Amino acid sequence: MPHAEVTAQSTVDEPLRAQLLACWTDVSNAGGAVGFVPPVTAEDVAPVLDAVVDRVRAGREVLALLRVDGELAGFAVLSLSMSPLRRHWATVLRVQVHPDRQGQGLGRALMTGVHDVARARGLEFLHLTVRGGTGIEAFYQGLGYREFGRMPGAIRVAPGDDRDELHLTCRL
Ligand SMILES: CC(C)(COP(=O)(O)OP(=O)(O)OC[C@H]1O[C@@H](n2cnc3c(N)ncnc32)[C@H](O)[C@@H]1OP(=O)(O)O)[C@@H](O)C(=O)NCCC(=O)NCCS
Repeated sequence: MPHAEVTAQSTVDEPLRAQLLACWTDVSNAGGAVGFVPPVTAEDVAPVLDAVVDRVRAGREVLALLRVDGELAGFAVLSLSMSPLRRHWATVLRVQVHPDRQGQGLGRALMTGVHDVARARGLEFLHLTVRGGTGIEAFYQGLGYREFGRMPGAIRVAPGDDRDELHLTCRL
């Protein structure tokens, strides 16, 4: 496996924004379940990425970057709750590895790094959702997540193609 490192990033400059935008667009067009249905353009993804960047700057979300030999290979977002009653856990969003690099153990490396970042912030468990029908829950189950519920028909991938949203959790 290539040398991978995961770091928490609190600011996003223009070159990094461009890399994140290219990654998210390529992952979406390869069929990844990260908020879009293909085909998408960078213009479609940009406002959603910019909203993440704003929340990262405001301290509401943490961006975890996966780099391989210094090059961006994927990322994930930790969404922190603003409620004082919910400060002991977070939701993981947008987990993605660039299509050119999938299937090499990097998704596991990314999530292991996300767990380290979360532990360092004192979080006790993580929550995430998976689009039904993708099989991606097997990836998370291999990392210690278990399904605790699902919302029937929550995701309308296309007219007539409603998917359940699976809810998973993992103790850190
Ligand atoms: C899901 C994703 C992050 C996994 O990353 P990856 O680098 O391909 O995964 P890894 O090579 O680290 O795989 C780790 C393990 O998970 C399994 N796995 C990976 N992707 C899987 C999938 N889609 N379905 C089932 N199992 C999967 C692998 O077989 C491997 O199992 P093993 O440890 O028994 O060999 C990556 O495929 C991706 O970015 N997909 C598109 C975006 C997306 O849909 N994200 C999920 C949002 S919920």
